[in-house]
Amino acid sequence: MNGFNDRDGTLYADNVSLETIAKEVGTPCYVYAASEIRSQYSALRSAVEKALPADRQPLLCYACKANSNIAVLKLLQSLGSGLEIVSEGELRRGLKAGFAPEKIVSTGVGKQRSEIEACLEAGIHQFNIESLPELERIAEIAARMGKIAPVVFRLNPDISGGGHHKISTGRKRDKFGLSAERIFEAFRIAEKLNSIKALGLSLHIGSQVFTVETFKTAFEKLPALVGELRAEGFAIERLDIGGGFPIIYKDEKLLDLDSYAQWVADIILPLGTEIIMEPGRYMVGNAGVLLSEVLYVKETQDRTFLVLDAAMNDLIRPTLYDAWHGVEAVSNRGAPVRTYDIVGPVCETGDTFATERTLPDMQSGDLAVIKSAGAYGFCMASNYNTRPLPAEVLVDGDRFAVIRKRQSYEDILEKETIPDWLE
Ligand SMILES: Cc1ncc(COP(=O)(O)O)c(C=O)c1O
Repeated sequence: MNGFNDRDGTLYADNVSLETIAKEVGTPCYVYAASEIRSQYSALRSAVEKALPADRQPLLCYACKANSNIAVLKLLQSLGSGLEIVSEGELRRGLKAGFAPEKIVSTGVGKQRSEIEACLEAGIHQFNIESLPELERIAEIAARMGKIAPVVFRLNPDISGGGHHKISTGRKRDKFGLSAERIFEAFRIAEKLNSIKALGLSLHIGSQVFTVETFKTAFEKLPALVGELRAEGFAIERLDIGGGFPIIYKDEKLLDLDSYAQWVADIILPLGTEIIMEPGRYMVGNAGVLLSEVLYVKETQDRTFLVLDAAMNDLIRPTLYDAWHGVEAVSNRGAPVRTYDIVGPVCETGDTFATERTLPDMQSGDLAVIKSAGAYGFCMASNYNTRPLPAEVLVDGDRFAVIRKRQSYEDILEKETIPDWLE
């Protein structure tokens, strides 16, 4: 059986019991099921293979901000994925995992000089440009390096797409992309720059796009714009239509991949461009859990708290976005239930994973998982409260491996120094 599954009242990742992982690796730790990542990749791949001709298949560039562990990247690279990166660090991870530079696209509103240089040096597929000053900077660096930078311009379509206002990126008021008017200006400027090759447009309206028809509305903005740009003589050879595919945390409406692929076939395909997609959360979100031990069961007059050894520094999404994550017991899953608030040890009321959840009766030392934690989980973890970063484990069928060791206190403390004048 694939992914996370119940066997006689105990939770497994593929064929490995989470009890075994907790015993051998300790808690808190992230556990990822390779089978789930593979099946998400192949579901999207098959949907586009069905809807689009063989010679017009999109370049799927996994948005590795969602989960950038090098083993996870290697798995996706081995499946044929490309990569979307937002920093030099992610570029380095991608290259280390074996991604061909021609399959890497660089996005983000604040590309730094060193990052631009590293991307040009590597020979990435394209920069998705978000402002005119960024265009000038990339042109200047490429000219100095004797390179020609392949670029597309990110359209801000003025559409609200994200599942929470903090992850909606396509509204006029958001910092992302260029208005249609500015896109024309960008192409005109780029035409005069010998170190820039402007190749097309990109679009990303947000993350966890619940109202899935919004994708269609956003795509529908492209044909007219592409037509007008071409009429002005600009070559539009590439369209990067972004990520944002939703996953289920609770009871969200999932994107029907076949409908999505059909919108691409109906709206984008006729424009005759290369097509790029940037799915992040979709690939890894449901493939991961945060495995944790119950430190205490704390009864108050008002409620019963499960105090876990995982905290907001390990998984910030509930604190940051009020995100809903399922919580389940790992063992004795058939026991009579009680209602709990599930919290971490950090000194903030915001360090609450979930409230008023029914779980089987839990004791100190029992294990619990916070579900759907494979995306924007570990990669957003911090050392808040001087808590070491958790370990990460990848399960594949019967085997598992620690793909990131738990951080030690030495790792944390060795970076800090006391100036002489305080000694
Ligand atoms: C430009 C861009 N592409 C792709 C993504 C991935 O989004 P998601 O994880 O929702 O697919 C993001 C997320 O922030 C992004 O900013």
